[in-house]
Amino acid sequence: MGVYSWLLAKGYDLAMYKTEQRCLQKWRSELLLRATGELLEIGAGTGVNLPHYPAHLKRLTLSEPDRHMRLKLQKKLSTEQQYPPRIAAWSAEQIELPDRSVDTIVSTLVLCSVNDQQQTLKELYRLLRPGGQLLFLEHVIARDPDTVRWQKRCEPFWSCCSGNCRLTRDTAGAIEAAGLQIERLTEDDMSPAPTIIKRTIRGVARKTS
Ligand SMILES: C[S@@+](CC[C@H](N)C(=O)[O-])C[C@H]1O[C@@H](n2cnc3c(N)ncnc32)[C@H](O)[C@@H]1O
Repeated sequence: MGVYSWLLAKGYDLAMYKTEQRCLQKWRSELLLRATGELLEIGAGTGVNLPHYPAHLKRLTLSEPDRHMRLKLQKKLSTEQQYPPRIAAWSAEQIELPDRSVDTIVSTLVLCSVNDQQQTLKELYRLLRPGGQLLFLEHVIARDPDTVRWQKRCEPFWSCCSGNCRLTRDTAGAIEAAGLQIERLTEDDMSPAPTIIKRTIRGVARKTS
């Protein structure tokens, strides 16, 4: 498991390079322009979102439970950050911050990988101030039934090889079920990417009260 997570952390930026160039960087920068106030990013990984955060944030907290990813994140921070963020090892299911203490939560390609998506979204709801926002970019279950069948077939193997990444989550439905209101939603195919992880959603969900 240790060697495995080391390999994932080591290879992540390289494995994602073409997809970042082709679409993800653009989507990240458009989405993260909306970030304000006290911000928490869950599953911050190697820190790919860092260059896209606006300079006017009040506070930036990056949580990443994987030790090897966290080391890469720390390295990146020492070279390219203009304001000092806080780094924590929290899992998204249990964040050690007070209720209603966060204005913006960022989750990019993380709600596919958390162990318990429902518990994670409950936790994010708890943390957000009324009026606060979740900025999300996630790959989700396909629309086409043939692709869904393949996703179901591949999921056990895929999740073992990709840090628990699930292929068949209806993340938009889960966000709404947790009580957040989706006020912006864009669907796009990620490219280049295998068909089973192509369909993505991104947008803004708000805690209205
Ligand atoms: C596919 S990577 C995405 C990394 C980064 N957010 C990005 O946009 O490229 C998934 C990340 O979620 C993290 N992760 C997995 N389970 C998690 C959990 N329960 N809570 C928080 N993060 C988790 C992994 O360690 C990994 O860094």
